[in-house]
Amino acid sequence: MQIRTVPAYQEMSAIAAGMIAAILRANPAAVLGLATGSTPIGTYDELARLCREEGLDFSRASSVNLDEYLGLDGTHPQSYRYFMDEHLFDRVNIDKARTAVPSGVAADPDAECARYDALVKSLGGQDVQLLGIGPDGHIGFNEPADEFVGPTHLVDLDPSTIEANARFFASEAEVPRRAITMGMDAIMGAKSIILIAAGEGKRAVLEAAVQGPVTPRLPASILQNHPDVTVLFAEQNG
Ligand code: GLP
Repeated sequence: MQIRTVPAYQEMSAIAAGMIAAILRANPAAVLGLATGSTPIGTYDELARLCREEGLDFSRASSVNLDEYLGLDGTHPQSYRYFMDEHLFDRVNIDKARTAVPSGVAADPDAECARYDALVKSLGGQDVQLLGIGPDGHIGFNEPADEFVGPTHLVDLDPSTIEANARFFASEAEVPRRAITMGMDAIMGAKSIILIAAGEGKRAVLEAAVQGPVTPRLPASILQNHPDVTVLFAEQNG
């Protein structure tokens, strides 16, 4: 695990985007594992700039996202599909048909989970997986639990996650209570992983994840078992 601390959010974002861009240049048909939350926004801004100004080509790339709120369809402004369109997909020359986000409104959510895992597998897994980290140590929406869950699955969101994500909704009551998330099998199956975190508020949970015991009570700690993880921490957020 490589851990790099930089002072500024923008520097962290430029490094993460540069790593993803290098993977894409080496393999224009790369499979990009993408994440939501406020932390990756700067990375997506930089990727959009590289596409616009330096011709970084997404036309043959595919992407798979980590998670989606249950009950929100892609037209809901707080859905993760909407987020990805707004912050990245509509700003680069990626073929939207090759961008995947779990559906939060599938008639059969369990079947959607199975479909999603089959899709990730059919793509050969992610060449790189970008991750943020939740205040409780979650990655994707893999919340603290008694055991790590391998497949894509439905989760009840932790009260701390609902509280943390309420800032994006009109009120806490509007935050969906459940989500669909890629499980640890697909995350750990990525060839490389970049975990980004910014601000002093994330320092303690990040330190516990990279230095503490590997435990499903702190889901990000599983990354210690992956052979190619880069952790980028920005001391200032924004
Ligand atoms: C959400 C997402 C996570 C993300 C986390 C942290 O819960 N499901 O994938 O890592 O938020 O978000 P932020 O970057 O806004 O702190």
